[in-house]
Amino acid sequence: MATDIGNFFKSGHQKSNPMDKIVVKEGGPLHGHVRVSGSKNAALPVLVSSLLVGGKTTFRNVPGLMDIHSILSLLGELGATVHRNGDIVTIDATTIDCVEAPYDLVRKMRASILVLGPLVARMGRAKVSMPGGCAIGDRPIDLHLKGLEAMGATISLEHGYVEASAHRLKGAHIIFDIVSVGATENLMMAATLAEGVTTLSNAAQEPEIIALADVLCAMGAQIKGAGTPEITITGVTELSPAEADIIPDRIEAGTFMVAAAMTGGDVVVDACEPKHMEATLKKLEEAGATLEVGIDSVRVIGPKTIKSVDIRTAPYPGFPTDMQAQFMAMLTRADGTSVIHETIFENRFIHVSELKRMGAEIGIKGKDVATVNGVKHLSGAPVMASDLRASASLILSGLVAEGETIVNRVYHLDRGYEHIETKLRGLGATIKRVKE
Ligand code: EPZ
Repeated sequence: MATDIGNFFKSGHQKSNPMDKIVVKEGGPLHGHVRVSGSKNAALPVLVSSLLVGGKTTFRNVPGLMDIHSILSLLGELGATVHRNGDIVTIDATTIDCVEAPYDLVRKMRASILVLGPLVARMGRAKVSMPGGCAIGDRPIDLHLKGLEAMGATISLEHGYVEASAHRLKGAHIIFDIVSVGATENLMMAATLAEGVTTLSNAAQEPEIIALADVLCAMGAQIKGAGTPEITITGVTELSPAEADIIPDRIEAGTFMVAAAMTGGDVVVDACEPKHMEATLKKLEEAGATLEVGIDSVRVIGPKTIKSVDIRTAPYPGFPTDMQAQFMAMLTRADGTSVIHETIFENRFIHVSELKRMGAEIGIKGKDVATVNGVKHLSGAPVMASDLRASASLILSGLVAEGETIVNRVYHLDRGYEHIETKLRGLGATIKRVKE
């Protein structure tokens, strides 16, 4: 293993301790500028795409997150030489001397399954631990596996591992039963080195898909249609080193915009990509926020009173499931009743019970519909983070809840938000990390 990411933690990224807590106190409106980091969900597949290249790739604006540390550690385990200096990461995958992604790494970060396609495409085989479920759902990978099988891979599932092998993958027409970001990314990467043409129908259209396709094309791949429901990849025999900047994190940006709106503040979110956030921006305006949208920034002026809005999560360009918990936090104090329909994950209302402990009035119908009756006040309380975006919703609620809110298990937060307490403090929030 050749991984020099020791300075990863020296690069200012706080090492996350499972017992760390974040204490946030009720404060006034947030004000000022906050800068968005590179996108976690764009960086993960892009960093993995380096496995397809027998050479050195360089990525800039890579966020300092636990999930990024996990994927870089995994690439190192596979034999790549990984260097990180601040937000610049170089990965030399000339020598891949291992094709196994072990359970103890994959269980920490299920997006590790993304190494499956690239390893089979480049090395002819891969052995990856089944990622297993997580708090928000059982997160199957059947679409990933069916797609690889359609491309000629032999797949076996034994002892909790997926083993896949193919002398050379062959192009195929793959029609996804449901829209899957990860399956689209895995198979798009696999298809770049397959023999012939692969068509992905009912493909995910997220900005992260376009970003990955842009990097793969910079490496010499032939991809058309990324960002539409039909992507066509014509296989080539090898890819070459490339450099790329990671796109801004649209979910981190949206989280700060919700913070501004729900505190009645006036905040400019810088270094974001408004074009990636249209559904989120529309909902914020529907809830009463005033927006000034720039080229790479959005000014959010929160209303005196939040208006209730209905939300239905959907694949991009619909309203993002990753913004559902944050909007729910804001709507707990809206002037009426909001109905939130979570259509992507089967268990993404875990934050509801914690918000109710803070005085929110929320009812769940079936498993996927929450009715939020706005209340005048929330009260601060000790709460438990359960997954990444639920943790963010608890922090946001703490900003407006009377008294003090202590969010436990903030390692969930550190997976996807870089220095969130520092960034919020910079906007005037009374918030600190307490190391156990
Ligand atoms: C990506 O997860 C994101 N993660 C998630 O963000 C995001 O919520 C999700 O896409 C949806 O936008 C990363 O990009 C690293 P999916 P992914 O495959 O790819 C089902 C965050 O907070 N499905 O699009 O795992 C699946 O169970 C995270 O940053 C299958 O049934 O999501 C889900 O119900 C959370 N079979 C739906 O599809 C499969 O083979 C969408 O999942 C694959 C998925």
